[in-house]
Amino acid sequence: MGFDTTRPHPARVYDWMIGGKENFPADREAARRILDLHPEARRAFVENRRFLGRVVTHLVKRGVRQFLDIGAGLPASGNVHEIAHALAPGTRVVYVDHDEIVLAHARALMAGSDKVRIVAGDATRPREILGDPVVRHFIDWSQPVGLLMVALLHFVSDEQGPARIVATFRDALPAGSFLAISHGVVEGWEDRKEEIRQVSQAYVRTREEIAGLFAGFELLRPGLVDVVNWRPAGPAAPTVLYGGVGRVPTAAVPRWAAR
Ligand SMILES: C[S@@+](CC[C@H](N)C(=O)[O-])C[C@H]1O[C@@H](n2cnc3c(N)ncnc32)[C@H](O)[C@@H]1O
Repeated sequence: MGFDTTRPHPARVYDWMIGGKENFPADREAARRILDLHPEARRAFVENRRFLGRVVTHLVKRGVRQFLDIGAGLPASGNVHEIAHALAPGTRVVYVDHDEIVLAHARALMAGSDKVRIVAGDATRPREILGDPVVRHFIDWSQPVGLLMVALLHFVSDEQGPARIVATFRDALPAGSFLAISHGVVEGWEDRKEEIRQVSQAYVRTREEIAGLFAGFELLRPGLVDVVNWRPAGPAAPTVLYGGVGRVPTAAVPRWAAR
């Protein structure tokens, strides 16, 4: 992906939605079209960012000290390493994105920390991300990892295989690792999927389809829910994004071995 600012780009549209400044007229126009289709979309994106914050806080409190954030997005308020470092300053974070603009901003704003790394990578090529030297060596693969795919997988088409992507990462994660996903949901208005895709570039999915992405993980309470209902600080109106966190199970100890 290059620096074409005349066409809307998901990262910059999202940036505008959550109050950032790294966006251009084409992005703002696209954002307005999304808001015409769904006036509550802006609040949904803000709530998504809050969900991300609550997830990182929760995982750090559970002892996670390294995060792999795929589809990191433009640096904005509440970046993963800032939230994590407020609780555990030694936490390592690798940000991955496929967008050159995101990467350039991330390098300029975040690469100063020795606890942060920025990697160019495409989620649809998970083996390449897992094989990246920074991902291999900055992450300690013998310790639990917090894998974040927040507002990412709805940019992956069925043909690109979101379940295959998640499964490839799952098989690489140490036991006790976590995966967080948030994803655009279409409960009740499936007939508008194509319209949504054209306006927002997002492949929204049903709750059941999103739940299927957690195959092989144990879902933490409260399960896959509207992002506002995932361990909320208080009540909030529903959005169009569902989120959840799954844990890679620790290998079951056979009974004969446990004796
Ligand atoms: C909506 S933003 C989400 C940012 C952040 N995860 C959050 O929830 O606040 C989606 C990000 O995913 C990135 N993205 C989309 N498709 C991707 C892919 N195939 N590989 C890597 N990054 C991707 C976009 O460039 C964008 O930065």
